[in-house]
Amino acid sequence: MPLLQLIYASRPFGFDASMLTAILIDARRCNARDGITGALIVRDDLYLQLLEGPEAAVEAAYARILRDDRHIEVRRLTRRVIADGDRMFGAWAMRDDPAQSWVWSRDEVHDGAPEKASEQEVLEIFRKLAALPAKAE
Ligand SMILES: Cc1cc2nc3c(=O)[nH]c(=O)nc-3n(C[C@H](O)[C@H](O)[C@H](O)COP(=O)(O)O)c2cc1C
Repeated sequence: MPLLQLIYASRPFGFDASMLTAILIDARRCNARDGITGALIVRDDLYLQLLEGPEAAVEAAYARILRDDRHIEVRRLTRRVIADGDRMFGAWAMRDDPAQSWVWSRDEVHDGAPEKASEQEVLEIFRKLAALPAKAE
C-alpha cells in the first residue's frame, strides 16, 4: 500500500523542555496507534517534522497538528507518495533531534528559508538525519 510522506515547518509558541516532552508523548501515543512514523527536528525557533504513514492517518494527524496552539505559522513544505518499504524513519513513532548545523541558521529561518527551499532540499535534511545515529535518551 502506498504511503503519504508529509513535511511541515512551524514556530514553537512558548517553547520549553516540558512542553516538548508533552508534545512527544502525544505524538508517539497517536502515531503508534495510527501506523505513523517520522522525525521532529527541534529548535526554539523551529519545528520541522516529517510524518509518513497511511494517507488518511497522516492527513488526520496533520489536521490535529494544524489546530495545536503549542506552535504557530504551520506551513506544509512537501507532500509525496512513497512505497511501503520506503519509510525514512520506520523504526520511530517519532524521533526527535535538535536542529543540526546543516539545518538552516536562525537568520535563514527568520528570512523564510523553509518556504523557499525546494522539495529536494527539504528531503535532504531528513535523509542526513536518518543516516545519523539517534541521540541518547
Ligand atoms: C510540533 C508538534 C508535533 C506533533 N506531532 C504529532 C504527531 O506526530 N502525531 C500526532 O498524532 N500528534 C502530534 N502532535 C500533537 C497533536 O497536535 C495533537 O495534540 C494530538 O494528535 C492529540 O490530538 P487530540 O488532542 O485532538 O486527541 C504534535 C504537536 C506539535 C505541536
